[in-house]
Amino acid sequence: MTHFNELGLGAPLLQALAAEQYVTPTPIQTRSIPPILAGRDLCGIAQTGTGKTAAFALPLLQRLSASGSRAQPGSCRALVLSPTRELASQIAESFKTYGRHLKLSSTVVFGGVSGRPQAQALARGVDILVATPGRLTDHLNAGAVRLDRVEIFVLDEADRMLDMGFIHAIRRILPRLPKSRQNLFFSATMPHEIARLADELLRDPVKVTVTPGATTAEKVEQRVIFVPASSKRALLADILSREEMARTLVFTRTKHGADRVVRHLDSVGIRAAAIHGNKSQNQRERALDGFKSGRNRVLIATDIAARGIDIDAITHVVNFDLPNIPETYVHRIGRTARAGAAGIAISFCDAEEKTYLRDIEKLIRKALPASGSLEAGAVTNGPFHAALGQDRARVPHAASRGQLRAAAARYDAAGPPPSARHGARRQGQGASAAGAVPDRDAIGHRRGKDGAGNRWRSRPR
Ligand SMILES: Nc1ncnc2c1ncn2[C@@H]1O[C@H](COP(=O)(O)OP(=O)(O)OP(=O)(O)O)[C@@H](O)[C@H]1O
Ligand SMILES: [Mg+2]
Repeated sequence: MTHFNELGLGAPLLQALAAEQYVTPTPIQTRSIPPILAGRDLCGIAQTGTGKTAAFALPLLQRLSASGSRAQPGSCRALVLSPTRELASQIAESFKTYGRHLKLSSTVVFGGVSGRPQAQALARGVDILVATPGRLTDHLNAGAVRLDRVEIFVLDEADRMLDMGFIHAIRRILPRLPKSRQNLFFSATMPHEIARLADELLRDPVKVTVTPGATTAEKVEQRVIFVPASSKRALLADILSREEMARTLVFTRTKHGADRVVRHLDSVGIRAAAIHGNKSQNQRERALDGFKSGRNRVLIATDIAARGIDIDAITHVVNFDLPNIPETYVHRIGRTARAGAAGIAISFCDAEEKTYLRDIEKLIRKALPASGSLEAGAVTNGPFHAALGQDRARVPHAASRGQLRAAAARYDAAGPPPSARHGARRQGQGASAAGAVPDRDAIGHRRGKDGAGNRWRSRPR
C-alpha cells in the first residue's frame, strides 16, 4: 500500500494531510502526484468523490513552493478554472487547507459578487488563482490580471470546461497563457470528442484512467422509478417522508421546475431550498449552507450543483428529471457515495425520458433496476414500491396524502423486503458485520474502503 510520504510530498503538506486524517492516498492521487511533481502534463479520469482535487492541488502547491519565484503584482502563478462559483470556492478552500503550512497566497474570483475586492487581491499578485471563466474574462478585459506568468494551468471538470458552454471563454483565455506551462486536466468523465480537443492542449501528457471512463461511484446504489410526469411531485413528496432520507439532493432540469418542486414540497410541509442560476449569489450560498448545516434536509438544484460539489453525508440523490446528457447523470449521482462511503440514487423516468435512460445505461455500461409504471392515471407512490420492486401495488393518481400514508404504513407493517433491509443497514440503522468497517458513522459517510480495498477515513466536518 502506498503512503502519502512515498509520493514525494514535503513535510508541510504531509502535516496538513495528517490533520485532515487522510491516511492513504486514493488511486488517482497515487498515480497522478509523482508525474505532476515531475512537471508532466496530465489528464486524470477517476470516479466522483475519489479525491481528484488533492490529486492536483498537492503537487501544484509543492511545485510552486519549491520553485522559489514570487507572484508579481497583477499576475498569478497557477490558474485553476472550474465551471461554477460554488465549485471554484470549494477548490480555493481546499488549497487553503492543504497549503496551510506553506507561504503561498491564493484567491478565488467568480461572478454574482462585487469584483472590486477581487481586483484588489489580483493587483497584489497571487500564487494560486481559482476562477470561473466568465468573471476571469471580465478581469482580463479590465486589465486587473495578466496570465503570462502562469506556470501551471488546471481545468477541473475538464470535459465540461471544453464543451459548448465554456469553450468560447476558454479560447479567449488560452492565448493569454504562456506557451510553456504545465497543464492538468481532471474529470470523472471524458467523452471522446472532448478528449480529442483536450489532447490538442496537452503536451505529451500522462494519461491516468483509474476506471473505464464514466464509471459511476463505487458504492452508489442506483434505481429507476417509472412514473408519469404529472405524478412526479407527489412521488417525490412521498419518498421524502421516509426518515432515512436524511440529506437529499434533488435535481431538476429547469430553474422553474426547481422552484415548482420547492413550492409543492412546502405545501405538504417539507422545507426545501433551491439553488439555480436565477437565484442571487446570496440566496445560492444560503441554500447551500442551510443544506450543509442540516437546516434543510432537502436541496433542489439544477445542474449547477451536478459537478464537483463535495457535501458531507448526502444520503440520497434524486433525479426528478433525467438529464439529457448522460455524463451529467454520472456527476449528479456522484454527489453521494463520496470518499468511500455509500449512498442511494433514485431516478424518476417518465415516458419522454426513456431515451435518456437508454443513453445513460449505455454510457455507464449497466442496466439500472427499475420499478413503477408509466401508465396514465396510475402512479407508484412511494419508496415502498421502489423497494418492493416487482411486487408493486398501484395507487390511483388522485390518491390523497392520507391514503398514500396508509399504503406506506401497510407496507411498513408487512416488513421491508430483503433489499430494503439491506438499505436500512447501509443507513447505519442496523448492525454491521462483525469486524467490518461500517460505511458510515452516526453523521454518515466518512470512512470506507477505496477500490483497492484500502481503508480510508476523512475528517468529520
Ligand atoms: N486520501 C484521502 N483520504 C481520505 N479522504 C480523502 C482523500 N482524498 C480526498 N478525500 C476526501 O474525499 C472527498 C472527495 O474528494 P474530491 O472532492 O476531491 O473528489 P473528486 O474526485 O474531485 O470528485 P468529483 O468528481 O465529484 O469532483 C473530499 O471530502 C476529500 O476531503
Ligand atoms: Mg472534483
